[in-house]
Amino acid sequence: MALSGKEDGGADRAAKTKYDPEFTDKVIAATGPKALPRLKEIMPSLLRHLHDFARDVDLTVAELFAGIELINEAGRMSTDKRNETGMLCDILGLESLADEISSKLLSDSGSSGTATPSTVLGPFYRANAPLLPSGSSIVYAAPDSPWSVQAAPWLTHLSGRVVSASTGEPAAGAVVDVWMADARGLYEQQDAGQPEMNLRGRVRADEATGRYAVYCVRPSAYQVPRDGPGGRLLELLDRHPYRPAHMHFVVTAPGFRALTTQVFDRDDEHVRDDTVFAVKDELLVKFEPREGDDRARWTVEYDFALSEA
Ligand code: BEZ
Ligand code: FE
Repeated sequence: MALSGKEDGGADRAAKTKYDPEFTDKVIAATGPKALPRLKEIMPSLLRHLHDFARDVDLTVAELFAGIELINEAGRMSTDKRNETGMLCDILGLESLADEISSKLLSDSGSSGTATPSTVLGPFYRANAPLLPSGSSIVYAAPDSPWSVQAAPWLTHLSGRVVSASTGEPAAGAVVDVWMADARGLYEQQDAGQPEMNLRGRVRADEATGRYAVYCVRPSAYQVPRDGPGGRLLELLDRHPYRPAHMHFVVTAPGFRALTTQVFDRDDEHVRDDTVFAVKDELLVKFEPREGDDRARWTVEYDFALSEA
């Protein structure tokens, strides 16, 4: 097979040497003795990869500034309700990769046991969701509102336990911070028809049993937002924008590591081609019809196992 110049190792080396061969070392050497230790450790590698990338693709100033503008625009769009820069990292697979690396470091240190796998936080997390007792509803829309009418067939009872990964005992004092898009694929901050903090809550698990329960909705697959640089990048890369139906969690308990994760509807058609590469087999769940409960048509169960801090 004929290799293009960029696939041929020899041509790559030629590309590197056609530019100042001492430049990268000069930039690395500019780091001072009082630099932050972790930065001192990682910057040489970052600079080498970054400069090699620029040389390998013959990056022009115009292209560099197009990239800078993309990041600037993502920064300008980001607020406490939406993290567009985080979404760019998700689309590039960087948050999933960092999650894999963090999980591996944790399991190599022997402290994660059979903990529930983590996955990406995503751009729609909001801090300080209402703190609620177990069994509460995180549907805050008035029952007769147009949103509630369309959501009615999707009302769901979610429950499970929060336990220690090493002992299987309840993780005392656990709080399940849960958020999700609605059945049309919209988070409350994307939808004027939903009240503030709709489908978000921090639910306290039972101290003695670790059980938690919450009324919510069965989410649907959705397209990641396409009104900003993240969506534009997907389009330019000819990639689809879909995430499979999922619910997000940050589960905390004193003495345990916080767990950021999601569960995915195993029957969703996009479960094998998530556009942000975040699905793990252990996080697949089955939604079942719920009988005898006029507050929910669906039920889903999931237990969280936390590793010791
Ligand atoms: C989300 O699940 O909310 C999400 C994650 C990554 C990119 C876009 C959306
Ligand atoms: Fe999401």
